[in-house]
Amino acid sequence: MELDKLLHEKFTNIFKKGYITVEGTTLTERYDDVKEDLDNLEVNESDVWICTFPKVGTTWTQEMVWMIINNLDFEGGKVNLDDRCPFIDFSFVFDDREWHDQNPEENNFPPCVHDPIGLYKSLKSPVVVKTHLPLVLLPKQIRNGLKKPKVIYVSRDPRDACISFYHHCRLLEGFSGNFDEFCELFLAGKIMYGPFWKHVLPYWNLRHSPNLLFIKYEDMKTNLSGVVRTVAGFLERPLTEEKVQILAKHLSFESMSKNNAVNKEFLSDFTKKFKLAQNCPEGKFLRSGKTGEHKTAMSPEMLKKFEEWIKINIQDTDYVV
Ligand code: A3P
Repeated sequence: MELDKLLHEKFTNIFKKGYITVEGTTLTERYDDVKEDLDNLEVNESDVWICTFPKVGTTWTQEMVWMIINNLDFEGGKVNLDDRCPFIDFSFVFDDREWHDQNPEENNFPPCVHDPIGLYKSLKSPVVVKTHLPLVLLPKQIRNGLKKPKVIYVSRDPRDACISFYHHCRLLEGFSGNFDEFCELFLAGKIMYGPFWKHVLPYWNLRHSPNLLFIKYEDMKTNLSGVVRTVAGFLERPLTEEKVQILAKHLSFESMSKNNAVNKEFLSDFTKKFKLAQNCPEGKFLRSGKTGEHKTAMSPEMLKKFEEWIKINIQDTDYVV
């Protein structure tokens, strides 16, 4: 099946009507309505922006950064992460208008979902902001260098990110295709925020800028304390060694899986309520938390396709997967 058709047939629903390409990136049609607001967002230099392609450890990094900025305030950290760290893209990834028209008696979705830009504006700086927008679509003030908030970009082996994204889209967003179909969409960049390399490489090219820190999921897996120290240094909020260890423990997969403020368990209830994942087995947002899963989860043919795709896309760069 042709890929645009596949995307439309297997991945549209009442909350996701269709897709457009903006500056070469696949986004939902709804983006056009909020583009101006996002472009013209008044940016505060003391905020911290976490910019990522989906499923690379964004939530993990958000919790780390929020905790560092707030001096390990575990009491404050009991508030839902999406309320503490606004995900500004909710303004277009989730279109609740038709659903509201059909269900006028139902309450609005919470502000973090319904009005994330309003939420962002209501929070006191330094705000930890989350976005999956590519560099070319960040607010104008950041793009043109007028404001230089600290930006942390997280990356991950795209093969593992693809597996994680597939499960996420099936479990939480109503994707009804199979794994190989999802991989084909991913490779072709015809999935939200794709193409992957068009996202990663422009941020990678800025990795030596003083206000940008580029980190990798794999490094968080092998040396979480080390990454915590690096991030704290970058944020100019150095931590004592004792605090580094306390925070690393708090950020372990086991601890985060049990932490209802970050494990997004509420999303599964949401998916069930709106029947977004009818053929989907039970699953969790903090799913497996491993590196190298592609080696067993992908067929030899698919692994070969990814290998070739990686080779072609990084051949003229010094990026290492
Ligand atoms: P898997 O689906 O491979 O398990 P994002 O927050 O960008 O959506 O990324 C989600 C991915 O990060 C999921 O990957 C999730 O399990 C993983 N993750 C979240 N917290 C983690 C942690 N504390 N340790 C390891 N992986 C974590």
